[in-house]
Amino acid sequence: MTKRIAVLGAQWGDEGKGAIIAQLAENADIVVRAQGGDNAGHTFYTKEGKKVVTNIAPSGICFPNVSNVIGNGCVVNLETLAKNIADYSPELYISDAAHLILDYHRVLDRVREKSRNKGAIGTTQRGIGPVYADKMNRVGIRMGLLKHLERLEQEIRYAVEQKNKEFISYGIEEFIDADKLLEQMRPLFKQFAPCVIDTGVYLHHAVKENKRMLFEGSQAAMLDIDHGTYPAVTSSNTTMGGMLMGTGLGLRAIERGIGVAKAYTTRVGEGIFPTEGEPYQNIKGYKRGEFILTDTEKRDLREGGLSDAIIFRYIREIADEYGATTGRPRRVGWFDMVALKKAVRVNDLDSLAITKLDCLDGIGTLKVCTAYQHSETGQMITDFPSDQQELEGFIPVYELFKGWGSTKGIRDYEQLPKETKKYLGFIAETLNVPISLIKNGCGLEDYILMDGLW
Ligand code: IMO
Ligand code: MG
Repeated sequence: MTKRIAVLGAQWGDEGKGAIIAQLAENADIVVRAQGGDNAGHTFYTKEGKKVVTNIAPSGICFPNVSNVIGNGCVVNLETLAKNIADYSPELYISDAAHLILDYHRVLDRVREKSRNKGAIGTTQRGIGPVYADKMNRVGIRMGLLKHLERLEQEIRYAVEQKNKEFISYGIEEFIDADKLLEQMRPLFKQFAPCVIDTGVYLHHAVKENKRMLFEGSQAAMLDIDHGTYPAVTSSNTTMGGMLMGTGLGLRAIERGIGVAKAYTTRVGEGIFPTEGEPYQNIKGYKRGEFILTDTEKRDLREGGLSDAIIFRYIREIADEYGATTGRPRRVGWFDMVALKKAVRVNDLDSLAITKLDCLDGIGTLKVCTAYQHSETGQMITDFPSDQQELEGFIPVYELFKGWGSTKGIRDYEQLPKETKKYLGFIAETLNVPISLIKNGCGLEDYILMDGLW
């Protein structure tokens, strides 16, 4: 029996990790976040039909008897944490070595975006980059200080002074007032101080006691600070290595890695996205619910004559591809095996969970990208390059698949349309990773399990 499972994003985030995590969290003893902060948005529905969105709180908060841990690799916005847990009274532990996000990190996130000569990243503006920069510069403020309020206040005052000086160089005239900031933060410090412990020790004992532990990945492989599409990435290690670093556990702690991927691909923010349907500039103004297919387009969708751009506008609406954290319309594209191959390799994934399969229902022709080819020289790339610029002039090479009618309500893999099995089989065989779970709807029951999870 597997006792310790990591669920990791295998694309550019928003793969529907929340639903997979919630399914496992319900029967877990401990749910752990190891990296990232409230840039994440994990959405799922409980048995009672309640919609839950977690950002920094681990997704075990709404299940009874689950202990929730925010590991040392995380960066913590206490305001968000308080909101995330407001409806529950979860058992919660926060690492004394996790870093605290404060107002000035969010201000810096905003202004540093504007001053980048390589162009904006389109961050979630939660202060993630600046707080991790402080950590690496060894000037960060760690959660352990919540137990030593006097020192904490001193350090925050000093940090505010330094950041206000930095603000001048960005031309910001609204300085942070340390007194006001502390006044606003004190109730939160008081609320969360009892949760602060050395989570490394706690988790180590949990492993020894053979507890069921779920490692909740946030963001995704292609947003990893080392392995993603740098510089358009987040500031933490979102891959398996980050799970160990961010919890203080050793090599053998995690027994199984499940990578979550949508049956197509999405991305929010800037950065390369080889299989996207239309230029990012076009979609920025799109609003939820504004796009409806005409009757002719509906026919063409079924019969396979519609342009990629229109197909993805359709998918964006039916799949509600708008950011859970920021509300931004997501960029949509075909399934990209070159990117997935990297996620499988870097995480050494044991299996895949494929989500939103039903969102491809009724589309006449589907494409899966198997390589990138240079439009002039014909050169082929099958390993995602570290340098995004190396993909200039390359276009995706697609394998075409006949679509299918409907996958809704199906609970058994064998019952899926043969075209669906061909599509999924191609992905699993080419990547040489089995698919262990398929989501074909947002409801808790809308899944096909191919392999016991725990
Ligand atoms: P979950 O866990 C999708 C993206 C941002 C931006 C880049 C850097 O819900 O999958 P940051 O604020 O982290 O400095 O932004 O990373 N990004 C995400 N995209 N899902 C997420 O989390 C993301 N977290 C960050 O859009 O492009
Ligand atoms: Mg998300």
